[in-house]
Amino acid sequence: MILPIVGYGHPVLRKVAQPISKDYPELKQLVANMYETMYAADGVGLAAPQVDLSIRVVVIGFRPYDEKTDTYGEVTEQHTLINPEILEFRGEKKFFNEGCLSVPDIHEDVLRPESVVVRYYDEDWNEHTDEATGLYARVVQHEVDHLDGKVFTDRLSNLRRTMLKRRLNDIAAGRVRTKYRMKK
Ligand code: NI
Repeated sequence: MILPIVGYGHPVLRKVAQPISKDYPELKQLVANMYETMYAADGVGLAAPQVDLSIRVVVIGFRPYDEKTDTYGEVTEQHTLINPEILEFRGEKKFFNEGCLSVPDIHEDVLRPESVVVRYYDEDWNEHTDEATGLYARVVQHEVDHLDGKVFTDRLSNLRRTMLKRRLNDIAAGRVRTKYRMKK
């Protein structure tokens, strides 16, 4: 089931999300819905607060995109992160152009470390520790920020944020058009 996505300005995006326990009801269904929602919106990551649930659950998935046909291939890599913890940041800080399904039409270069070590549980409660690099490391950091009440625009310079202020206010007021459903 595709869930509506909350936009910039919604208070749930500013809360620190709570860890969940093994008895969290219907976790697998929630995770399946989050993947469906993310892929339907052409996203590569989605955190539970973005579907108005203040819990520490993240889905990440990558598919090759074919520009000629404007279609996506099969999923090549997918990670469900329950209660993720970034244990270590590694490597140099790099700029990378980020966007967010909760912040439609805004894409900005964000400076973050190029690798992280992240520990999490999957939806079967198996524990994993990954050394994430490349796009995976980038998305992990962006999504864990969501769990801590942060949005990627918080990490921009004051100047950039000032320049984006009106567009962010428009999103907060619901004055934005998206291909996917947003929560009022
Ligand atoms: Ni995001």
